[in-house]
Amino acid sequence: MIIKACLFDLDGVLVDTARFHFLAWKQLADKLGFIFTETDNERLKGVSRMNSLEILLEIGNITLSDEEKNRYASEKNLVYLENIEQMTPDDVLPGCRKFLNELREYKILTGLGSASKNARLILERTNLLPHFDIIVDGNLISLAKPNPEVFNLGARMLGVENSSCVVFEDAVAGVQAAHNAGMKCVGIGSPEILKEADLVFPGFPGLRPDNLVFTGSPE
Ligand code: G6P
Ligand code: MG
Repeated sequence: MIIKACLFDLDGVLVDTARFHFLAWKQLADKLGFIFTETDNERLKGVSRMNSLEILLEIGNITLSDEEKNRYASEKNLVYLENIEQMTPDDVLPGCRKFLNELREYKILTGLGSASKNARLILERTNLLPHFDIIVDGNLISLAKPNPEVFNLGARMLGVENSSCVVFEDAVAGVQAAHNAGMKCVGIGSPEILKEADLVFPGFPGLRPDNLVFTGSPE
């Protein structure tokens, strides 16, 4: 396989925003009067804002009108935006920037593929924006991973075939989205959780574009 482009998930791959999402959802759960734990928060990783709210309400056994749901989702986002104010270039996970620079040396295109509507803001705050040729975020897509929409659009914007793209993901639904797009997927995290990924690395330190060797054709 000749790799022409790498597509990156944001949260959990390039930056650790899960704790900021957690704190914001927890604040809402506290307000609604139920306990929301970090274990519960695992279910929200890679899930869109409104779907996350649905899961949160299911955990709290709470029913709300659509209007209330929209209001609470906006409230959560305001708290989240306050939380990520403090992000700086130091919040980029170790080894990411070096790896992105190496992809440039190899003339491999780069794209972001995230469900977050705040993705661009986070890339700006962390100084990652110049590393990306294109950005697909939650404002451009409507179908959540494992639907491949986010990665299909990324490949189309870059002008490359899906089969020459590699996706980097930390969530199971993201790995499935990559495969549903006919792309290879590198899992960033634990091999027990990301067993469907074609390759798994604990993070970017020590990872080089040379290490992206895949056998067989994309699933
Ligand atoms: C990513 C995160 C999710 C988050 C989603 C939407 O996929 O992993 O935890 O809910 O983006 O983020 P947003 O910033 O649009 O609320
Ligand atoms: Mg993620």
